[in-house]
Amino acid sequence: MDKKVFIKTFGCQMNEYDSEKINDVLASKNKLVQTTEQKDADLIVLNTCSIREKAEVKVYSDLGRIRKLKEANPNLRIAVGGCVASQEGANIIKKAPYVDIVFGPQTLHRLPDLLKAREENGKPQIDISFPEIEKFDRLPTSSSIGPSGMVSIMEGCSKYCSFCVVPYTRGEEVSRPLNEILKEIITKGVSEITLLGQNVNAYRGLMDNGEVADFATLIEYVSEISEIKRIRFSTSHPNEMNDALIDCFSNIDKLAKMIHLPIQAGSDTVLSAMKRNYTTLEYKSIIRKLRKKCPEISITSDFIVGFPTETLKDFNATKSLLKELEFDYSYSFIYSPRPGTPAAYLEDLTPHEEKLARLHELQKENIYQGEIFTKKMLGTTQRVLIDSVSKRTPDVFLGKTDNNRVVEIKGDPSLLNQFVKVKIDKILNKNIQGVILN
Ligand code: SAH
Ligand code: F3S
Repeated sequence: MDKKVFIKTFGCQMNEYDSEKINDVLASKNKLVQTTEQKDADLIVLNTCSIREKAEVKVYSDLGRIRKLKEANPNLRIAVGGCVASQEGANIIKKAPYVDIVFGPQTLHRLPDLLKAREENGKPQIDISFPEIEKFDRLPTSSSIGPSGMVSIMEGCSKYCSFCVVPYTRGEEVSRPLNEILKEIITKGVSEITLLGQNVNAYRGLMDNGEVADFATLIEYVSEISEIKRIRFSTSHPNEMNDALIDCFSNIDKLAKMIHLPIQAGSDTVLSAMKRNYTTLEYKSIIRKLRKKCPEISITSDFIVGFPTETLKDFNATKSLLKELEFDYSYSFIYSPRPGTPAAYLEDLTPHEEKLARLHELQKENIYQGEIFTKKMLGTTQRVLIDSVSKRTPDVFLGKTDNNRVVEIKGDPSLLNQFVKVKIDKILNKNIQGVILN
């Protein structure tokens, strides 16, 4: 019988992509078949996230449960990868000695070798190094299931925002060569592709002719692949929003008209303490340019509340900026001190209850803005990729708009995996319905 691997993914899209790669490499080198039942697995892989403390705590509580499985089956192997692995390294084995392998985001391609070494010498194996982007040279490429796929265009981040652990867990920013990315997209055989990176607009990839392509150039090349009908990307940093990229939203029809542009705070003193390297005025000017070029664009953002130096005045500035900019949607998080980051050493005077109250205020506004944006979609024409059937009604199909709203459409199974033009004709709370236009 085939041996089975269970992979659990925590955190961001980059981790989801890495988990696909972990599966590819284990299928090709170790002939492992993926299972959705943890109890049936011969190997359990946790692909972890450490962006906030909560995410990290979840990993250790999961490991506690997995320990029982290993007690019942000593042949079970446990591998911990991703950002917690990268940050904690050998500490994971100290805290959970039943773990067999600890690997980082840049060493996932070495998993078969690590498994082999574990069997040969009976000891836990740890490899959390950053061997540049060797991983892509060593990985098999596979086609995707379904109409959408993701491709990593760059790894790591070199921005070192004072609160963020990513540069330490994923290493410095490295762009993949342009042609490698195009080849991977073509192999996937999808009609929608999401270009992934911590700061995609910092992309600087080598072309075959020796020149360096920026992100706008990469989008242009991807848009020339005829099978690709829609292009998405995530995430961007306000610092590298150049005009060429802003122009893509009006010049390249295949590019989804949405952008996630985290601002983090609406106070210039907090932004400076966060080392974000832009002011609120500069951020607003980017939003103005984007909306001028592409009036229907959906803009989403991230906010951190309770950063150590944040005063009530700073918070009020954030709140009024959030209201002023009328995002499609935003995500707000309570600041979580991350080991080894500069902000973790700052004195933090705000009580947790006060931070919670601030968080709720922002989240209320985020939900309100999301509802307003949804309501504005009534009567508009949207590009929808149909990807599933409604569980309740078999002749109702579900698909996503450019700005990631789920739309219900009546039709038949031939619609599946197709792009259609849809007129939104009914909105009931969160439920959006539309009819197909010819
Ligand atoms: N590359 C993205 C951010 C990736 S992390 C960028 O351009 O900013 C995703 C989000 O998590 C961030 O935008 C931030 O809002 C949040 N985040 C990161 N570190 C955090 C921390 N220490 N505490 C709370 N939220 C954090
Ligand atoms: Fe983190 Fe800032 Fe990079 S939020 S991922 S260090 S841009």
